[in-house]
Amino acid sequence: MAEKQGFTSSFGAIAAAVGSAVGLGNIWRFPYICGQYGGGAFLLVYLIFVFLIGMLLMLSEFIIGRRSQHSPIFAYESLSPHKAWRYAGLLGLITCFLILGLYLVISGWTTNYVFDSITGHLAGLSPDQLDSHFASFSSSALRPIIFIAIFLALTALVIIGGVQKGIEKVSKILMPVLVVLLAILCVRSVTLPGASAGLEYLFRPDFSKLTGEGILAALGQALFSLSVGMGVMIVYGSYIPNNDNLLKTSLWITVCDTLIAILAGIAIFPAVFACGQDPAGGPGLVFKILPAVFNSMNPESGLPFGTIFASLFFILLTIAALTSSISLLEAQVAWGSEYHPKHRTRHTLILSAIVLAIAAFCSLSNGVLSHLKVAGSTIFDLIDHINSIYLPPLCALLTVLFTGWVMPKSDIRDELSNHGSLRISYFGIYYFIIRYIAPLALLVVLVTGIINSLH
Ligand code: PHE
Repeated sequence: MAEKQGFTSSFGAIAAAVGSAVGLGNIWRFPYICGQYGGGAFLLVYLIFVFLIGMLLMLSEFIIGRRSQHSPIFAYESLSPHKAWRYAGLLGLITCFLILGLYLVISGWTTNYVFDSITGHLAGLSPDQLDSHFASFSSSALRPIIFIAIFLALTALVIIGGVQKGIEKVSKILMPVLVVLLAILCVRSVTLPGASAGLEYLFRPDFSKLTGEGILAALGQALFSLSVGMGVMIVYGSYIPNNDNLLKTSLWITVCDTLIAILAGIAIFPAVFACGQDPAGGPGLVFKILPAVFNSMNPESGLPFGTIFASLFFILLTIAALTSSISLLEAQVAWGSEYHPKHRTRHTLILSAIVLAIAAFCSLSNGVLSHLKVAGSTIFDLIDHINSIYLPPLCALLTVLFTGWVMPKSDIRDELSNHGSLRISYFGIYYFIIRYIAPLALLVVLVTGIINSLH
């Protein structure tokens, strides 16, 4: 049997996992829902969930992965006396697959916008023209699918390169590039005249806007942003070197992910305010409103380099999406490799073909197939709905129940302390949260989500 590959260094492991965590969730989704649910007040609740529940869930996934040295289905099966636990892994894998289908559609849009901004196709368009540009592009049949395929090909190439020479190497290069690009955009944004209104919008806590729904959204966003709850971090956990301190690794990833989400807000909102655009632009913020912001940075208005900043922004977004989709596809490929470790390329190609079909379906449901409805929703909306309300909290709940109630406490202690060589004075708090608080919080989110969606 071929030797199982893993990450070669702590930095490589952290870069790859940060790559998974930092994605469209940070740069596209976080800023707009943060603004929607009360800015600073939402941020506060989000931070509590990220560090109390999200990070400890990540730690649990790392424990399951590194202890078992397997991908989710086999990991659950090998660590539990009850074979039925393998279905928790299977559910995670299905969730990853569906998320990847949707993720590819939006990643295809970002790749198209890199092309459009570099070739100057967005320059000079008015907000209305940008709106119809987005609508006609996203509802057209062929073009979005071509860009999805280009993006997926990049993802697959990295996976075929392997865990060390593909995922680890690419993440070690792309993550620092992403930070530099984001820093440049932040500086540009906060130095625009009138930028302070954007910072105020993002950071001033307005508790009156924070509803129960906002609190649920904060927990959902925390899970999605940290890539936890569906087994991706179980796979990456199985690649983490044995002598790495798992708590430190999780802490680094959580801090980086959170900082990048906040920096994305700092890059976006001041620019939106400075250019007189609507900050509550919702999901279309990045594709419709931001190009308008960049257009107003042209030389005539005294604010230079609109096209350059637009291109930088969409390259940044595509890099972030790429390292996340790599982790989503790797979760599937790792499962195939359990059976045939030597056929990584074949697994990648087959799985890519299947997921391309799902993504193409989702993309077409924004246009030619929009009449095709299941329970009153288009395919895109249906998968989005299942993915945001039911599957991730359910998978996360199963993960915390597994570590809190099924795995022997001594095994968890052993894995966290690297077989007794590290002091783990935090163990009592971790165990208490993972056994009682996290399951309760996830159950509340799941049940409330289901009840709300039935109304
Ligand atoms: N965390 C990624 C983001 O913020 C999305 C993701 C979710 C990736 C789940 C992998 C697994 O965009």
